[in-house]
Amino acid sequence: MPADPLLQVTGLTAGYGKIVVLRDIALTIGAGEAVALLGPNGAGKTTLLRALSGLLPRTGQVRFGGQELPNANPRASVAAGMAHVVEGHRVFTQLSVFDNLLLAGYGLPRAARDKQVQEALAFFPEIAAKRNDKAVTLSGGQQQMLAVAQGLVAKPRLLMLDEPSAGLSPVLVDRVLAAVTQLRQGGTAVLLVEQLIEKAVAVVDRVYALARGAIVLEARASEADLANRLERAYFGEGAHAPLDA
Ligand SMILES: Nc1ncnc2c1ncn2[C@@H]1O[C@H](COP(=O)(O)OP(=O)(O)O)[C@@H](O)[C@H]1O
Ligand SMILES: [Mg+2]
Repeated sequence: MPADPLLQVTGLTAGYGKIVVLRDIALTIGAGEAVALLGPNGAGKTTLLRALSGLLPRTGQVRFGGQELPNANPRASVAAGMAHVVEGHRVFTQLSVFDNLLLAGYGLPRAARDKQVQEALAFFPEIAAKRNDKAVTLSGGQQQMLAVAQGLVAKPRLLMLDEPSAGLSPVLVDRVLAAVTQLRQGGTAVLLVEQLIEKAVAVVDRVYALARGAIVLEARASEADLANRLERAYFGEGAHAPLDA
């Protein structure tokens, strides 16, 4: 891990009103590193992404690209180079694929925007071929590709994906997750929230497991016995075992 990671989170706490969901979260992501955030339903994965991208208030420090990100300020997070693709492939179904992407680049100078829309489309030939079709005509998997492509239009330094494979067939899951590999090769850091542990581990460098609102495990994706350790961490056994056995 380089001395100054792209993202460095310390002591992050967040929740909804009086309900505390996340307690004292610490994590780092290096520049160009792909990291999976795993954990059972209700662990707080979506809440953590929201707190990082400024959609939800939090306490604690979030340093990104060498600067402290202000609390609950999504514009500042986007301006600093974060993109957050929210759960459930939200796209504008009555707009064309191309217009969905232009909207994602709202605020960019026109020439840069057109170029970045083309680059985002280049990741997904399936939807590039349908650029003039309304998003409603896309399959679920293609809508998910469009949602990921929307996140790419801003050329983020860190792309956060919240369960991009949810509801997709295995083949489409592989297509969507292949984008993570491509991004990493191009130097974009990724924080991938996934339920499909094996598939996530195959495309990332490192994993964190979140359970009951706390980080219970951190490991390199290449470590032996990771699936068993994750399972134990999810259910509370071995949560205090050393990270490197
Ligand atoms: N808008 C909300 N208001 C109150 N509680 C919420 C809200 N969204 C999520 N929660 C609660 O926060 C906890 C973590 O949820 P979430 O971050 O969505 O988990 P995950 O993404 O890991 O499945 C759950 O107990 C959930 O019920
Ligand atoms: Mg979630």
